[in-house]
Amino acid sequence: MNSSPWWKEATIYQIYPRSFFDSNSDGEGDLPGITSKLDYVKSLGVDAIWLSPFYTSPNKDGGYDVANPRDVDPRFGNLEDARELITQAHKRDLRVIADIVPNHFSDQHEWFQAALKSKRGSKERERFHFYDANEDGTPPNNWISLFGGPSWTQVEDGQFYLHLFDSTQPDLNWENPEVNADFEKTLRFWIDLGVDGFRIDVAHGLIKEDVLTNHPDPQGLSNALRLDVAMDSEERNALLLTVPYFDRQGVHEIYRKWRKLFDSYTGREIMAVAEAWVHPPVNATRYVRADELHQVFNFDLLTAEFNSDVLFDVVERSISLNATVNALPTWALSNHDSPRVASRIGDEQARALALFVFGLPGSAYVFAGQELGLPDGQLQDSDRQDPTFFRTNGAIKGRDGARVPLPWSGDTTPFGFSTAKPWLPISQSWKDLTIENELADPKSSLHLYKNALELRKEFLVGAGGITWLESSQHGHKNDSLLSYSRGSITVVMNLSDSAKECDAAGKLIIVSGGTVDARDGKKVIPARSTAWFLT
Ligand code: NOJ
Repeated sequence: MNSSPWWKEATIYQIYPRSFFDSNSDGEGDLPGITSKLDYVKSLGVDAIWLSPFYTSPNKDGGYDVANPRDVDPRFGNLEDARELITQAHKRDLRVIADIVPNHFSDQHEWFQAALKSKRGSKERERFHFYDANEDGTPPNNWISLFGGPSWTQVEDGQFYLHLFDSTQPDLNWENPEVNADFEKTLRFWIDLGVDGFRIDVAHGLIKEDVLTNHPDPQGLSNALRLDVAMDSEERNALLLTVPYFDRQGVHEIYRKWRKLFDSYTGREIMAVAEAWVHPPVNATRYVRADELHQVFNFDLLTAEFNSDVLFDVVERSISLNATVNALPTWALSNHDSPRVASRIGDEQARALALFVFGLPGSAYVFAGQELGLPDGQLQDSDRQDPTFFRTNGAIKGRDGARVPLPWSGDTTPFGFSTAKPWLPISQSWKDLTIENELADPKSSLHLYKNALELRKEFLVGAGGITWLESSQHGHKNDSLLSYSRGSITVVMNLSDSAKECDAAGKLIIVSGGTVDARDGKKVIPARSTAWFLT
């Protein structure tokens, strides 16, 4: 079956370029490295790749600190390499999504350097958020950066500039038309080079309001906004309703303009997906109205417990909220900002959840390495590079664990990723998790992903909505089971630690782990496993 437009029910493979494959032996992945592995990517059965930033950057925040958004950082190659990557991806019928970072630039961007050299009130400073200090010399407000520490840094003449992230990532002032014009230039630049879409970083953050007002609990709010800080979900949700710098109405005007720009490329089907972590969840649907963006990330599965009620709620809410704007949901179990799913909920559970999610309507995002069942890398503090670690004086370990390079082949670290020392160490304990090894093992996580994605394409893409068969709200006979049917497929997940019987009809076509038995006309689903049946 086919889905049109291409992105609607695509499977999108997220590549963190620095960690994918090193082609020039400097210990860091690069664009030619990705190009050389596109056959592997294609063999997974995905439809598109999303490339985390590879633009000119001092790399203080893994490239999300962009010094020139219309060029490639030498560590990743050059513009010719980007063009070649896109060409080779297209030859294999893989679409390419670039990651655009409109909330902030790097402090090394020429605009910020010019702002530093200019006077308060100058047009150079008006591209950012520069304010005078309070009378007592303190910063304009008490906001805390999402990476810890104050959201403000003082410059030589006493003014402060706002940075929601690291001090090297000054926030842009989107009330300034020059900023909009510059980003439109950047969007066109990459579309003209061939990209098929954009992932929009911090899409909900561009417009700031009440910049001179203090928040009642700035530390709590900053923790609530971080996926790597554990917090009671009620407390988190209550705090998230109070964010003063996200999800202001003005952001939607920006995306309406961008949508017109995308649609002006007739015949290209340029798409954009918003990284917009907003509360209450209904607000996320505003980003995917017909005249705005095409998709919005649903982050709930990055933190959800492996529990049938929790997962039912997440799935049901996401499908029904998106339906109100005639959109389909997106699903992601891991990304470069959160602990890897196999570490967070367990290896078997991660496979079961992936197979459960691949059956659902909408787009599935897979973070490179997830298909191997990689856990988080075990790192020493001396290895860490995430600004979060430094800005919290080590109190928060940060996101490096999810960013450890991929193990490709061989028995010894760095497992073919590079011939040099990799930028983050790859543990010898990953010996059995290399792509080479998993390709040779039909029971591996890699084969599960490949088989599941093939079956998803064959039976489920374009197959319409789901009908719940088992959940706490639908004929629940067993609170360890979650089950739905879609098209000709019935999906059953057993979340418990023991095998469970179910009534699913049809022929077993895939199981995430263990063996499905038949007993008294019923199917017995193994512990912590998902099975698909074809009727
Ligand atoms: C979200 C990105 O995914 C993350 O890696 C980055 O640190 C922040 N935005 C700031 O750009």
